[in-house]
Amino acid sequence: MSSEGAVAPATRPAGASAAPENVTLRLWRGDASGGAWVDYVIEYLGGEVVLDVVHRVQAEQAPDLAVRWNCKAGKCGSCSAEVNGKPRLMCMTRMSTLDLGEPITISPMRSNPVIRDLVTDVSFHFAVARRIPAFHPGPREADGTYRMAQVDVERVQEFRKCIECFLCQNVCHVIRDHEENKPAFAGPRFFARLAELEMHPLDTLDRRELISRELGVGLCNITKCCTEVCPEGIHITDNAIIPLKERVVDARYDPIAWLGRKIRRRPSPTPASVTAALSPAGASGEVISTDPAPRATP
Ligand code: SF4
Ligand code: SF4
Ligand code: FES
Repeated sequence: MSSEGAVAPATRPAGASAAPENVTLRLWRGDASGGAWVDYVIEYLGGEVVLDVVHRVQAEQAPDLAVRWNCKAGKCGSCSAEVNGKPRLMCMTRMSTLDLGEPITISPMRSNPVIRDLVTDVSFHFAVARRIPAFHPGPREADGTYRMAQVDVERVQEFRKCIECFLCQNVCHVIRDHEENKPAFAGPRFFARLAELEMHPLDTLDRRELISRELGVGLCNITKCCTEVCPEGIHITDNAIIPLKERVVDARYDPIAWLGRKIRRRPSPTPASVTAALSPAGASGEVISTDPAPRATP
């Protein structure tokens, strides 16, 4: 977890009064057919994160409350919700950073269909993931190894910190208020994944046509809202989206790059190459170590 993604320092908002005896959690309760806000007044214990208090509400007052979580450590990405209207990880949001004198609203992620209460359907994101051809390395070196420079390891490592919380997808206005854009727009999480693959020196596929024509990088107008909410501190816009836009433009309009591609013949993904890339032998998607020791064949 980066320092940017760590639990925010336990400071109270300016002007906030002393810790109250009780706090009010205003939870959205309902399902796909509709719902409403319900207030739960509960003792304030101090030292808790929002997820702790939601769990106490569930244990003491609303045993049928649906809430998704796993690690309670900012690593599984499953407790995403909107806290006071902002996409947050509930397990990494300290109560002490909120204005406890007002009801704390907690609602499900708006860009996902609601299943029940705070639990949403994230299948759109995994459907996008399946459209992206996996890491597809070329042949190994003569000694059976793969090698890459440390600077390249570090460049792609930033994107591999993603915990798939989809907070960035939720805040992106291209799909947040425009369900109709989803088929044509991958979203910031997947631009980070695509940047990871496209910048990997050992990968042999060229996904630029896919990125441009099917996954809609051009619809992003670099507002950086995704970067601001990323709990892992990934610089999605500056380090992934803008370089992808540049690569797409290079592919279309730079005659030298065009000539270079003709000579190098780096292939665009075809159904056969995608199948090969997704096969167990080519689907690791891993950052390959610079360790020169031969690796067991996957
Ligand atoms: S920078 Fe692009 S991808 Fe990120 S939130 Fe804004 S429009 Fe969406
Ligand atoms: S890029 Fe950041 S905000 Fe988006 S899914 Fe990954 S960890 Fe979450
Ligand atoms: S419970 Fe895993 S990230 Fe919050």
